[in-house]
Amino acid sequence: MQEFGAEHTLLKQEVVLDYLRAYLTVMRKQRFRLSYIDAFAGSGWRRSGTDAIQDGLLLQDKEAAMGCALSVLRMPKDFRFHRYVLGDLMRGNVRSLRAAYDAALAGGENVPPPEAVQILRGDANRLVEAECQRLEKLPNDRAVMFLDPYGMQVSWRTLERIAISGKIDLWLLVPTGMALARVMPRHGDVPPSWRKALDRFFGGPDWKSDLFTQTEPDLFGVSTQRRDATLQDITDYVLRRLRDLFGPGVHPSGLDLSIAGRRSYLLAFACANRNSAAFGPALRIADHLMREAKGAR
Ligand SMILES: C[S@@+](CC[C@H](N)C(=O)[O-])C[C@H]1O[C@@H](n2cnc3c(N)ncnc32)[C@H](O)[C@@H]1O
Repeated sequence: MQEFGAEHTLLKQEVVLDYLRAYLTVMRKQRFRLSYIDAFAGSGWRRSGTDAIQDGLLLQDKEAAMGCALSVLRMPKDFRFHRYVLGDLMRGNVRSLRAAYDAALAGGENVPPPEAVQILRGDANRLVEAECQRLEKLPNDRAVMFLDPYGMQVSWRTLERIAISGKIDLWLLVPTGMALARVMPRHGDVPPSWRKALDRFFGGPDWKSDLFTQTEPDLFGVSTQRRDATLQDITDYVLRRLRDLFGPGVHPSGLDLSIAGRRSYLLAFACANRNSAAFGPALRIADHLMREAKGAR
């Protein structure tokens, strides 16, 4: 348990940070106003070598490593967004992240100015909705978004909004093994609350017919459902659904992330911009970084 999540946390953070550097290198030559939006920003810290999932506490510097949001804020001046929108549902996390940013600012560290940084408490889906509405009105704005939930908190509706924006490069953590495979037991008996969560996650009830098989009726004419779909099938299904939504800007495989040797999450990438001049380079960079990350394991 001590090493819970260490590998996947580090890998995803490195991939996202490297992507931001590459994105800013390309985009800052153009006249866009750029936002970094992290709707599951956490506390700013994670325990070194482990994942904050265990306690969510603000840890002392010497015990803790910087999480993604704080690392992004501390990127060198050459790699600056115009806006940073960082959100989390937990009051304690928001307070901790804000305190870390304030301390860096007060200590004269090289972080973006307060007018460029918003640290907000609230549900990620609402934050994304507000940011998509904002982007709709501003033709010269673009964003990179990182959605890094532990579970199934991101609704399909939210992904639809991101796709429609046409302006967002999205890194999305999908809980393939950690949640989806668990709430779709192979025996097919999915409790109503899990069904509801799956409907919200997949934007409707089609997951049932897409991933479950109807068994032959028994002697009494009763047939049941069974999940024959493997974890890889579930992963492929998520990727196909993302392609239905985002079109050609979805990375074909994403990056499988493991916890304790078991495939637990998929780090997916989708560029909402349908113009090949935009999604082409974005996909090439994402692909390069994911291959590097796979090689590093
Ligand atoms: C995997 S952690 C994020 C880690 C962070 N990206 C980092 O690099 O340190 C997931 C976070 O999502 C937050 N969270 C859970 N449900 C949420 C929701 N519905 N909206 C926003 N944040 C949520 C949790 O409080 C937790 O901090």
